[in-house]
Amino acid sequence: MAFDVDSFARTAAPVRTDDLGDLAERFARRPLSDEGLRCLRYMHDVESHTVCYLRDLLLTPSHRDPRITTFLTVWNYEEHSHGVALGSVLAAHGEPHGDERNAAVRARQGRFEGLKAMLTAAAAAAVGEDFVAVHMSVGAVNEWTTRSGYARLIEREQHPALTALLTRIMAQESRHIAFYASEARTRLAASARARRVTRWALRRKWAPVGSGVMPAEETAFVLGHLLDGESGRREASRIDALIDRLPGQAGLGLMTGTADRYATAVR
Ligand SMILES: [Fe+2]
Ligand SMILES: [Fe+2]
Repeated sequence: MAFDVDSFARTAAPVRTDDLGDLAERFARRPLSDEGLRCLRYMHDVESHTVCYLRDLLLTPSHRDPRITTFLTVWNYEEHSHGVALGSVLAAHGEPHGDERNAAVRARQGRFEGLKAMLTAAAAAAVGEDFVAVHMSVGAVNEWTTRSGYARLIEREQHPALTALLTRIMAQESRHIAFYASEARTRLAASARARRVTRWALRRKWAPVGSGVMPAEETAFVLGHLLDGESGRREASRIDALIDRLPGQAGLGLMTGTADRYATAVR
């Protein structure tokens, strides 16, 4: 069954934190580990950067499909709320969060980041309609890995307040997954060229979520921390199996490859 975008738009809501008790008190009693907090800063910054990513996507052929732009409008709103919710945990640890961190991330992108967006837009325009399949497939991969990053952080921290909050975020990521994956499947199934271009893009151009905007050592740390050990490995294989089921995308080994690259880097 096709994803119901109108119902998604009607039922979207920011992730709540106001009913989780006094977070400052809960995290003062039991703070997150230094490693967990470092992952959380990364997740906060990347979730909050979604609107900039959306700006770039709206320069591509995806903007022509009103179903997709309705989804993206609401998706961006929910991702923004994830940044805010994660910011409340940073605040509970007495850490900078929200606009203070977000402005710094944007300042770090430098003067030429708009140029990068323009080059992507030119490439996407050259690909034409089949670019939408690339966008939807990359979206599915990024949402799968994001949700699994939260699951791994829950597992590593075992902190009740963090678990409650991240479980709520993960429920929203699941709806994002449902949209991207169903759109990707339909579009890939319909066009051999879309399958080819997407396969090329995933193999040659895909990079872990946040790696384009965060310092390389932070990406390496977060991936290393979350993909480490038996559970990390299992999670990477699970995501690869999901990617394998997208038409024409079997055997790419994106996440197991990423785990190989990063998981030992922090030991
Ligand atoms: Fe999110
Ligand atoms: Fe998401």
